[in-house]
Amino acid sequence: MLCKIDIIGCMNDFCNKYPSDNMLLYNADQYCRKIASINYGKNAKYFIETLGCQMNEADSEQLAGMLTDMGYSQAEDISSADIIVINTCCVRENAEFKLYGHLGELKILKQRNKELLIVLCGCMMQQSHVVDKIKNSYKYVDILFGTHNRQEFPELLFDSISEKKKIYEIWEESRGIAENVPVKRSSTITAYVPVTHGCNNFCSYCIVPYVRGREHSRHPEMIKKEIIQLASEGIKEITLLGQNVNSYYCGMDFPGLLHYISDIEGIERIRFLSCHPKDLSDDLIKAMVEIPKMCSHIHLPLQSGSNKVLQQMNRKYTKEQYLMLIDKIRASIKDIAISTDIIVGFPGETEEDFNETLEVYEKAGFDFAFTFIYSKRTGTAAAKRPDQIPEDIKDTRFARLVALVNDMTLASNIRDENKVLQVLTGGKSRTDRSVMTGRTSSNKIVNFKCDNDFTGHLVDVKIKKGHTWYLEGEKV
Ligand code: 5AD
Ligand code: SF4
Repeated sequence: MLCKIDIIGCMNDFCNKYPSDNMLLYNADQYCRKIASINYGKNAKYFIETLGCQMNEADSEQLAGMLTDMGYSQAEDISSADIIVINTCCVRENAEFKLYGHLGELKILKQRNKELLIVLCGCMMQQSHVVDKIKNSYKYVDILFGTHNRQEFPELLFDSISEKKKIYEIWEESRGIAENVPVKRSSTITAYVPVTHGCNNFCSYCIVPYVRGREHSRHPEMIKKEIIQLASEGIKEITLLGQNVNSYYCGMDFPGLLHYISDIEGIERIRFLSCHPKDLSDDLIKAMVEIPKMCSHIHLPLQSGSNKVLQQMNRKYTKEQYLMLIDKIRASIKDIAISTDIIVGFPGETEEDFNETLEVYEKAGFDFAFTFIYSKRTGTAAAKRPDQIPEDIKDTRFARLVALVNDMTLASNIRDENKVLQVLTGGKSRTDRSVMTGRTSSNKIVNFKCDNDFTGHLVDVKIKKGHTWYLEGEKV
């Protein structure tokens, strides 16, 4: 199939001066219009299920943008949709199980409504064994595409509808970053802005470099243009996204990018996710100090506290270097919250290795963490190792880690008691309409009683009580 997306070079003087990765200019409007005319007057609805990380959520917002341009509106629930899209994840096995769980449900919906369109896309579709399985065993799926050709969705859908056939179209590699893709945001207050796509690090447990390809950085002007647009729509907080934002480079590095976008009026807060400890530069710490809009939070995945395991994970730092980095960050940035990712049960992890992880976790004084049980991913280096850890040992270690993480998260939240913190309110609590909920600059959830609706506002809240999962406060 011909690609209807033009590959263009650099779009302006800046890009000519600093030539970088190719950009793919979204050019599927004609297909959107054709499908919109087919949908005209039908009240056609879409339902998107997003599995996985923030990058997938950002991708799903583009899928929603394209579907909106194709004349679909969002369905209240899956059973009332005319088209169902599952944006898949394969970073851990349980995300894959979720897809197969959903597919059972979709089969029943398809039996009830033969016109229903079922679309699978995202990371799992970049794996040929998955595509083969879907083609052979789930024949009621209509369209498959991967992470690299998401912007082709309107064309693929048009071909599927007009030719009444199944379409399986996967690009093996990225051909550049698609720009100007329509986006339908899920929030009117906060927004994700991807700055890099893909990853070059090849941590030995991780499937991401295989399914999202090599790292590409977006042109700073495209990023700035997007953020200016977001500000004009009333967005207050942006999160710059990348597997490793700190290796961003397109004529400027990541700290340079932060300065470049720091003065956009209307944007009150800037966050970023994730940072690799090996690449966290002094310049980034300096930028976080110098730019008032930078949130006082950094997410810095540790993964393990054992030097042996870190080396086998191909992380390229030691626990000593990691702890020195934490000291440097805390010494430079006042009241910074630091969160992390930890994996338990990496192949060959001994009891001593695991105890070192607990020890480093305590020493680092993390404010919160995402904890994972190692999941063997076909195609990664670690999956080939014969010394996989038995499930029961992984489970016991995981429970011990979670107990420590919860204790320390609670202690961090208790330290916030009696402080007045600025909260960006997301809206009223779903369970109690007299309570508003929002996030601090340190990315902690705050609930506070309030008669008025301060949705989308930055308000000062005095913290009365720290709980494990949230802070409870009072508006001052
Ligand atoms: N098993 C368990 N956790 C993993 N992660 C990535 N790959 C795996 C895996 N195979 C975790 C890492 C990463 C986070 C996004 O997911 O901790 O930082
Ligand atoms: Fe995976 Fe490592 Fe890249 Fe993160 S930095 S996406 S863990 S390979």
